Amino acid sequence: METPYQNHIDKAEFDHVYEPAEDSFLLIDALEQDLDYLKAKKPTFCLEVGSGSGVVITALGMAIPDTVCMCSDVNFKACAISKITAKRNKVPLDAVNMDLCNAFLDEMFDVIIFNPPYVVTESNECGGTDITASWAGGVKGREVTDRLLDLIPKKLAPNGTFYLLLIEENIPQEVITIMSKHGFQSETVIKRRNRNEQQLVLKFYK
Ligand SMILES: C[S@@+](CC[C@H](N)C(=O)[O-])C[C@H]1O[C@@H](n2cnc3c(N)ncnc32)[C@H](O)[C@@H]1O
Repeated sequence: METPYQNHIDKAEFDHVYEPAEDSFLLIDALEQDLDYLKAKKPTFCLEVGSGSGVVITALGMAIPDTVCMCSDVNFKACAISKITAKRNKVPLDAVNMDLCNAFLDEMFDVIIFNPPYVVTESNECGGTDITASWAGGVKGREVTDRLLDLIPKKLAPNGTFYLLLIEENIPQEVITIMSKHGFQSETVIKRRNRNEQQLVLKFYK
């Protein structure tokens, strides 16, 4: 998968919006590894929750041009930059400033991707709408992720796939158990150690 052009983003913007890092590129690598599987499913609607700079959803839109791409972020500036990133790379993208995917009422998505705020923090650090929302994950680094897990059964199309980046401290096995209670199978798509973090991307499907 081609890496989207990002030089349009002024470095100063990254004081306010998550700068693409190893986790962003691991998620892109996971999607690339699964690209034949995804293309075979002919996804119509793809959603990235928490798009930050927009590089991940833009990379997906570039790789599967016939799909309709949407993204959300609680950080208004992230939505604005995501739209610009997509436009610079000729990917049509709707970006919505909202919590998770709560403003999408009846829509279902064929692909949902999330690189969440996964750092273990105090609960009261979690839930901001500024740059802190990029990393502060609360208890187990999972407070935001767990809220999305409960929405996936309603928001993922029956034949859809959900990709989620986690680190070991998030206790991936507990996430797998939660999703299996919702009726989803799971697989580890990719794993990589980045300095002191063991990062992985899980995929869920029925
Ligand atoms: C680790 S960053 C990932 C950014 C981008 N997807 C990437 O991989 O480079 C997490 C993103 O999730 C957003 N976020 C955090 N909580 C959210 C929520 N409740 N709803 C939507 N977006 C959220 C943050 O603002 C941030 O942009």
